[in-house]
Amino acid sequence: MSEVLVLYYSRYGATAEMAQLIARGIDEVDGMQARIRTVPSVSTVCEATADSIPDQGAPYVTVEDLHDCSGIALGSPTRFGNMAAPLKYFIDSTSSLWLSGSLCGKPASVFTSTSSMHGGQETTLISMMLPLLHHGMIMMGIPYSSTELLSTQSGGTPYGSSHLAGTDSKLTLTDDEKNLCKQQGRRLALAASLLCPTDGSRPLK
Ligand SMILES: Cc1cc2nc3c(=O)[nH]c(=O)nc-3n(C[C@H](O)[C@H](O)[C@H](O)COP(=O)(O)O)c2cc1C
Repeated sequence: MSEVLVLYYSRYGATAEMAQLIARGIDEVDGMQARIRTVPSVSTVCEATADSIPDQGAPYVTVEDLHDCSGIALGSPTRFGNMAAPLKYFIDSTSSLWLSGSLCGKPASVFTSTSSMHGGQETTLISMMLPLLHHGMIMMGIPYSSTELLSTQSGGTPYGSSHLAGTDSKLTLTDDEKNLCKQQGRRLALAASLLCPTDGSRPLK
């Protein structure tokens, strides 16, 4: 089995639910399976370390998870139009992977959740693409052949899936938002099977 990493941060659960749906899409592809990971929160005492295994939910990611995977789906709630600090904090610890080219030529895609409709979904998605491009990853969006992009009344963008969580962050995902997550996961896993075949050749490295 080849694994696609689904790495996310979530405070109220929306991005976590999107991660599960993307993982479901990944698992639909023959020979592919999702590995779901999260990051600990950061605090004003930045060197404080969390337990290595959280009380509940996905395990915390390690640099090895990125090294081992054949593709990545990266998700974060919007924070002032940008990715959340805990995710950025982890990404800033990946220099060794950049130096070794571990992620080069692997496919990646991004997902997000915002409180307000125009509160920065696209900018947050793009903020997550930037470090992945520096790592040499092949960015994938969602094509308009996913017709939910045309019908959605809330989240869903060609840059990656998104969710409108509402001012209290309690809105549930709509069917269109859910379908786009699953399709994004499926396409990512298909690309990973082509770009990172199990013979280890990785043609675009
Ligand atoms: C510090 C902070 C900044 C935020 N900035 C934005 C923002 O710029 N635009 C927006 O629509 N929502 C913003 N939000 C709301 C979150 O994006 C929302 O709670 C999130 O999408 C819920 O996802 P989660 O359930 O995965 O935590 C912000 C929330 C916090 C705590």
